[in-house]
Amino acid sequence: MLEQFSVDGNTAVITGSSQGIGAVTAKRFADDGANVVVTSRTQEKIDEVAAEINDSDRPGEAIAVECDVRDRDSVEALIEATVEEFGAVDCMVNNAGASFMAGFDDISENGWKTIVDINLHGTFHGAQVAGQQMQQQESGGTIINFASVAGTMGSQYMSHYGAAKAAVVNLTTSLSANYADHDIRVNCIAPGLVGTAGVASQMGLDPADVDRSDIAKEMGLPEEIADIVQFLASDASSYIVGETITAQGVPPLEDSQL
Ligand SMILES: NC(=O)c1ccc[n+]([C@@H]2O[C@H](COP(=O)([O-])OP(=O)(O)OC[C@H]3O[C@@H](n4cnc5c(N)ncnc54)[C@H](OP(=O)(O)O)[C@@H]3O)[C@@H](O)[C@H]2O)c1
Repeated sequence: MLEQFSVDGNTAVITGSSQGIGAVTAKRFADDGANVVVTSRTQEKIDEVAAEINDSDRPGEAIAVECDVRDRDSVEALIEATVEEFGAVDCMVNNAGASFMAGFDDISENGWKTIVDINLHGTFHGAQVAGQQMQQQESGGTIINFASVAGTMGSQYMSHYGAAKAAVVNLTTSLSANYADHDIRVNCIAPGLVGTAGVASQMGLDPADVDRSDIAKEMGLPEEIADIVQFLASDASSYIVGETITAQGVPPLEDSQL
């Protein structure tokens, strides 16, 4: 690998890494020599991911720290545990997210608030708590947020999620302006459909049933998103600040009549 694409020696906190894109990213970073903090609300699952990393010959080490990103105290404890174990936070990946499908009129107030809480407030907590730690370290860093094409294009059956993810895109730009002077680069990824357990449960699609050779451009792999996370965490993206990279496998205007 070209040196500028490497995350070797970094410490990365990857929220929502018990499965899906987060777990694949954690393993990828450890493959490359980064120490990773595997975190979600489910201790048993994050223990499994961390053990898989530590029991392998990957050069990076992992710890598992339970955290609910909706709870600021929990996020503060996550960052404290990271610093205690690895001495610093160099990269914060605000990947934790969730949704459910429903038409707008069928979304209860509680359902709306829950989805906004996880996707938007969770990102706010992660970015601010990790960002303040990075400022204290005075060694710069990277923050990578997760939006969705539902946030950039709208979504008939996930309007709560789309609204929260649109806010994450906007927050990324605002945050990048606040943190640029501290050498902290903030960027965002907006994936289209990616084959993960989350998609399977939300949309009734089983990624295992998808024949990539037939619809290679309609459903991405978690590994393809992890590639972008690594790029944004590495020096290879040093001139990219405050941007949202869309990855959806099809040209943006494919369905458009324009
Ligand atoms: N897959 C896609 O098609 C797709 C498309 C666009 C955007 N995205 C975004 O990409 C990111 C990853 O997606 P994915 O499909 O890999 O997700 P996933 O398979 O559904 O996994 C979600 C992860 O987030 C964690 N999580 C959920 N609520 C949490 C909370 N309150 N606090 C902490 N962790 C929480 C889950 O673990 P616990 O349940 O154990 O907490 C799990 O580790 C998300 O932000 C998602 O919105 C995904």
